[in-house]
Amino acid sequence: MPSSDTNGTSGEEFTAGVLHGAVREHAGAVLSEHGVLRLARLGGRDDVLIAAGRLMSSLWKHRDADPDSLTVIRDTGRHDGRPGFAGLGRGTLPLHTECAQHPDPPRLLLLACARAGDTGGESLLVDGQAVLAELAAHHPAAIEALSAERAAYFGGSGGHFAPVLQQLPASRWRLRLRQDGLARFSPEADAHLPALRKAIDRNTRRLRLAPGQGVVLDNHRLLHGRTAFSGERLILRALGDPHSALGLGPGFPAPWSTARPTALHEVTRRAGDLDEQLLTARS
Ligand SMILES: [Fe+2]
Repeated sequence: MPSSDTNGTSGEEFTAGVLHGAVREHAGAVLSEHGVLRLARLGGRDDVLIAAGRLMSSLWKHRDADPDSLTVIRDTGRHDGRPGFAGLGRGTLPLHTECAQHPDPPRLLLLACARAGDTGGESLLVDGQAVLAELAAHHPAAIEALSAERAAYFGGSGGHFAPVLQQLPASRWRLRLRQDGLARFSPEADAHLPALRKAIDRNTRRLRLAPGQGVVLDNHRLLHGRTAFSGERLILRALGDPHSALGLGPGFPAPWSTARPTALHEVTRRAGDLDEQLLTARS
C-alpha cells in the first residue's frame, strides 16, 4: 500500500481564517483537482466550525452529531463490533463513503484531528478517479457491472439500491461504497469485487494527521478509512454540501480524455485510449 503525507493532495495547507474570497476559490480548485484539501492550525472546535462554515453551504446533522453539528469520533468503549458504528471504536475502519446508505450522501467531509493517539490511527484515503482508471485499464467489465442501477444495496431495512460507480452526464462519475455488513452486492457486481478491492488497495494513501491538522474530502470521489489505533485519538467531523464559491461540479471527471459525454458501452474502447495514454506518459 503506497504511503505518503502529500501524495494525492496539492500539498498546500489552508487555515480557517483565510478561507474566503480568492483563497476560498483556490481551495475549491484544489478540491476539484485532487478531491482533497488540507487544513492546518485548527485550534479547536470553533476553528473547525469556521472552516466548515466557509466551505459548506449547510452542515448535516448526523445521527451521532452534537448540537453544533460536529461529531466527535473517538473510541467510546461501547460501539466496537456494532454494524455502522465501527468509527466509534479503535479498530481498523475499512474504506467507505460517508453515509453511503443515504439516498444522497453529503458531498464534503471534514476531519480535524484534536488528538492523534499513541500508535496507528492513520487516515486511509483512496481516489475514486484512480480506481476508475485502473479498472478501465485492466478490468473494464467490472465498470459495467459496478455501474448498474442495482449493483449494490446499502444500509439496513431503510437502505436502498445504488451503483458503486455511477456515471453522470458529461463523462463524470461518482463513487459510493461501504465494505461492512451494511452493504450487499448483486451477483454480477460481486464477481468483480476482487478487482475493485485490488484497485482500491493499490491506490490507497495513508495520512497521519497531527493535532490541529485536518482534511476536507470530496465524499462523492474519495473513500476514507482508518488504521487501528491505541491511546486517546479524537477527531472532529463535519459533513455538508459545498459552498457555491468552491465551484465544484458534480462527481469527478473520467480519467480518460474525452471531449463529449461517454456512453457506458464506450468504456472498453476508452480503456484502450487510457492504456495508450499511460504508455505514452511512461515512455
Ligand atoms: Fe466515515
